Amino acid sequence: MTSPTPVVELVQAGFAYEDGPPVLSGVDFAVAEGRAVALLGRNGSGKTTLLRLLSGGLRCVSGSLRLDGTEVAYDRKGLTRLRTTVQLVVQDPDDQLFAASVDQDVSFGPMNLGLPEEEVRRRVREALDALDITALADRPTHLLSYGQRKRAAIAGAVAMRPRVLIMDEPTAGLDPHGQERLLDALQRLREAGTTVLMATHDVDLALRWADEAAVLAPSGLRTGPVAELLADDALLDEARLRRPWGTAVARLLRTHGLLATGASEPRTPEELDAWLGAAASSRTE
Ligand SMILES: Nc1ncnc2c1ncn2[C@@H]1O[C@H](COP(=O)(O)OP(=O)(O)OP(=O)(O)O)[C@@H](O)[C@H]1O
Ligand SMILES: [Mg+2]
Repeated sequence: MTSPTPVVELVQAGFAYEDGPPVLSGVDFAVAEGRAVALLGRNGSGKTTLLRLLSGGLRCVSGSLRLDGTEVAYDRKGLTRLRTTVQLVVQDPDDQLFAASVDQDVSFGPMNLGLPEEEVRRRVREALDALDITALADRPTHLLSYGQRKRAAIAGAVAMRPRVLIMDEPTAGLDPHGQERLLDALQRLREAGTTVLMATHDVDLALRWADEAAVLAPSGLRTGPVAELLADDALLDEARLRRPWGTAVARLLRTHGLLATGASEPRTPEELDAWLGAAASSRTE
C-alpha cells in the first residue's frame, strides 16, 4: 500500500531549549490527512514541545518540518502557509485568550484572514455552537471558569477551519459533559475532513477516540494503530502509561475464552454492553 503524502511531517527532528539538554532527537513523525492521532507520554516527555514544532511556534534545531511534502521555510510566507493549515490550541487557555469577550476572541483569527464580515460571523457562530458556548459569547473571557476558557480557546482555533487541528490536553479540566461535547465537535470536524492531533494523558480517551497513537518513550517516538500500541505492555511500562480500561477488559475476556483472539475489543462500557448482548443472543440461537 502506498501511503499518501502526510499533511505535516517532522523528519529526523531534534530540539533542545536554550542551554538545556536535548528534548527530542531524530524524531520522524508523519501526520496523514484525515487521521485522529493521540500523542501520549509522561510529564516532561516532550509532547508540548513536539506540538509546537509541528505548528511552527518552535523551530527544529536539526532535521526539518514538511507541509504537504515541502519543507517549511521559517520566513513570513512559509509561516503563513503553515498557520493557515495548522492550528494549535495550547495547554493553558490563559496563554491563548486575549480579547475582551469570547465573541471578539473567536472572531479575531477569521477577521485577520481578511474574510468578509458575514463569513466571519458564520464561522464564529458555528465554532461557539460546536463547543456549546453560544450563551457565553458576550462574556468577558477573564471572568469565565477554567473549562469555559478552555472551550473558548478551542473555538478560536476551530473558527480558523484548519486542515490540521492540534490540541494540547484539550480535555484536561473539562467536566464529563464538556468532554463529550468536545468529542462530538471533533467527530463533526473529522467528518468534514479535518485532521486532529491531541496530546493527552487519558489512555481510555485515546483508545476510544484515536485511529493512531504516537507515544513518546525514553527510547524514542513510537507510532502505530492506537489499539496495537496501547496493548504493548513493554511500551506502556517504558512510557509509564496505564493500560486502557477496554484493553484490560478484552484481555480478561480472552483469558476466560470469551473473546476470540482476532476479535475487536470493546473500548467503552457501551461497547461492552453491545458485545454482551450479541454474545448472549448467539448463545440462545
Ligand atoms: N521553555 C522551556 N525552557 C526550557 N526547558 C523547557 C521549556 N519548556 C519545556 N522544557 C523542558 O522540556 C522538556 C519537555 O517538556 P514538554 O513541556 O514538552 O513536556 P510534556 O510532555 O508536554 O509534559 P506535560 O505532560 O507535563 O505537559 C521538559 O524537560 C521541560 O522541563
Ligand atoms: Mg505538555
